[in-house]
Amino acid sequence: MSELSITRLGPEHLDDLLALSVDREWRHEQRKWPLLLEIGQTHGIWAPDGGLAGAVVLTRYDQRLAAIGMVLVARRYNRQGLGRRLMAHALAANEGGVTVLHATAQGKLLYDTLGFRSTATVMTHVGELAPGAEDLGHSRPFTDADAESVLALDAAVLGAERAWLPRFLKFAERVRVVERAGVVTGYGAAWRNVGALVLGPLVAADLTEARYLAADLLAGSDLPVRLDLDRPELAEWAAAHGAPESFRTDHMVHGGDLPGDRSRLFAPAMQAVG
Ligand SMILES: CC(C)(COP(=O)(O)OP(=O)(O)OC[C@H]1O[C@@H](n2cnc3c(N)ncnc32)[C@H](O)[C@@H]1OP(=O)(O)O)[C@@H](O)C(=O)NCCC(=O)NCCS
Repeated sequence: MSELSITRLGPEHLDDLLALSVDREWRHEQRKWPLLLEIGQTHGIWAPDGGLAGAVVLTRYDQRLAAIGMVLVARRYNRQGLGRRLMAHALAANEGGVTVLHATAQGKLLYDTLGFRSTATVMTHVGELAPGAEDLGHSRPFTDADAESVLALDAAVLGAERAWLPRFLKFAERVRVVERAGVVTGYGAAWRNVGALVLGPLVAADLTEARYLAADLLAGSDLPVRLDLDRPELAEWAAAHGAPESFRTDHMVHGGDLPGDRSRLFAPAMQAVG
């Protein structure tokens, strides 16, 4: 397999990426992949017998921080070293920087061997969330006038400017902010994926504010909602209001410590981009 070269993929390869995802029993994510192809660098390996043998997406924040996602190897090429090659390629593209990812149990077996370390357990909750009245109505819709404050808040919390964040906020279906004394202290978004309205990102001053934003962002959804949470308090709240835990992943880091103030980050934009 070492003779198969790694190439950059573009929007014209959407169907091949969807076929690869489905081969690994991942969803047919027709909205998410075009966004990833736009904001990240997608690399793949073409199989000699047709289609993609593997793929990976590297989404940069700045020159020092990037996220890896959608690490996929076609079933028929399992355990033949392609996953390791794709990961080495993505890591080399962020050489000298810090790289984050969300690992499935299968992925973790590989990432452990590459020097990634786990920093948190992420509990994914899915269901028909019905927040209590006490948590509703404490946030307001985002407007263009909030853009500067939201981008500055996000950069302070993540420790890097996410150049693609304005695009992500347009991709999202709902975006809301919370203000204290006229200052935006938190913001969140929810975006539509296959069969779920997904919460993310979620940045807040504290747990209460995070709960308020989550409640307003997800209330009244016509789809089940999905929340990727590493705070037990928020996970318990989601479970108590109709969204039980569905599965877990590991948040992992490579190449140093995460910058910023992670105590104010309550959910990733999406697991694939951190
Ligand atoms: C995770 C995945 C990408 C690994 O790809 P792969 O090409 O099979 O992995 P590699 O052959 O490069 O394996 C590299 C190393 O990872 C570890 N590893 C990978 N799969 C393993 C398994 N099933 N059991 C034990 N170790 C495993 C081993 O250390 C392996 O090295 P070795 O074969 O020399 O012992 C692939 O299994 C996959 O696509 N899984 C489904 C999607 C998924 O969960 N992706 C991860 C998202 S975070």
